[in-house]
Amino acid sequence: MHQVLGKRKLVALSLELSGACNASCMFCTLGYKKDQAVTNVFTNEVIVRTEAKMSFDLIDSILAKYEVPKIGCTGVNEPFLAPDRIRYLLNKSSEHKFDVGFYTNGNLVGKSIAEDVLRCSQVNQIHFSLNATTNEVRQLVMGIPLDVAEYNLMQFLRLRAEMNREDIKVQVVMMRTPKNLHQQEDFIRRWEKVRLGFANVEPPGVFDPTNWCGDVYPYWMTKYKGKSGCKQWQCMAPLVRTDGQVYLCCYSSRWSFGHILDDDTVDSFLNRRERFNITDDTDPDQYPELCKECSHRFALAW
Ligand SMILES: C[S@@+](CC[C@H](N)C(=O)[O-])C[C@H]1O[C@@H](n2cnc3c(N)ncnc32)[C@H](O)[C@@H]1O
Ligand code: SF4
Ligand code: SF4
Repeated sequence: MHQVLGKRKLVALSLELSGACNASCMFCTLGYKKDQAVTNVFTNEVIVRTEAKMSFDLIDSILAKYEVPKIGCTGVNEPFLAPDRIRYLLNKSSEHKFDVGFYTNGNLVGKSIAEDVLRCSQVNQIHFSLNATTNEVRQLVMGIPLDVAEYNLMQFLRLRAEMNREDIKVQVVMMRTPKNLHQQEDFIRRWEKVRLGFANVEPPGVFDPTNWCGDVYPYWMTKYKGKSGCKQWQCMAPLVRTDGQVYLCCYSSRWSFGHILDDDTVDSFLNRRERFNITDDTDPDQYPELCKECSHRFALAW
């Protein structure tokens, strides 16, 4: 029987299994800074981001230390660049009883890995970030073609039906940018139509990008206006980088609360509102230095 006694409980974790991406989206920090420095918020130690995958040992150590019901494979990365890590995690998911979800740009979700994902009873959702309705526009926005991703996604949907895994929720998403804004209506129409043919496909999601804590400075970000505060301070799910560092939040690519295996790190992460004196009433302008450039402090309407 699996031993859970003595494990620290967490509501969820996001794991960066791969440290790289096959795309370079105009709204993603990864497209801008591949070797980004990350600073520990307490010690000021600087850790340089690498493209190495998460080690099997680290995955094992995380699962040995934490009891966690949900693991998301995402981060500032493309998880399907690490299919060996995905398969490893899937193999562990029944024994350790956690659900698995994915965010992917779709271009690497070929038949073999798709089948392995669909075979795993613990997988419950997958999001495909498409961002366009033509190859040309996707190249402009993401630097990769659309046809491969659409082929893989349609194949995934067909396999999902054949393998009786329509319990796995699928969503397609688009980040609005000046380059693809004119395709927004087409995007929604197209995926609403596909939805009619398959069970459990969410309505297409259309979102505005944030500026990842000041790391992305495209000109359209200047259109953000008004204050809405940040919901990430409440977030209970640490995002663990490939090297084990725990991000401040999923929109911050610069700040770490320490290593996931250090006893202090998760407490610091969960108590970060208190540590930084943030309350629900805190004026977003009074957020700590580490959030000062984050567009999440501003309304997402433009
Ligand atoms: C960072 S990606 C990682 C997984 C995968 N590479 C992908 O693109 O789906 C996870 C999600 O974050 C979104 N994202 C990327 N940059 C963003 C930004 N600046 N603001 C908000 N969301 C962003 C992506 O569009 C994607 O849906
Ligand atoms: S949003 Fe996803 S696909 Fe695009 S560059 Fe970032 S990690 Fe890669
Ligand atoms: S203000 Fe931005 S960087 Fe700070 S916690 Fe919120 S989303 Fe993250």
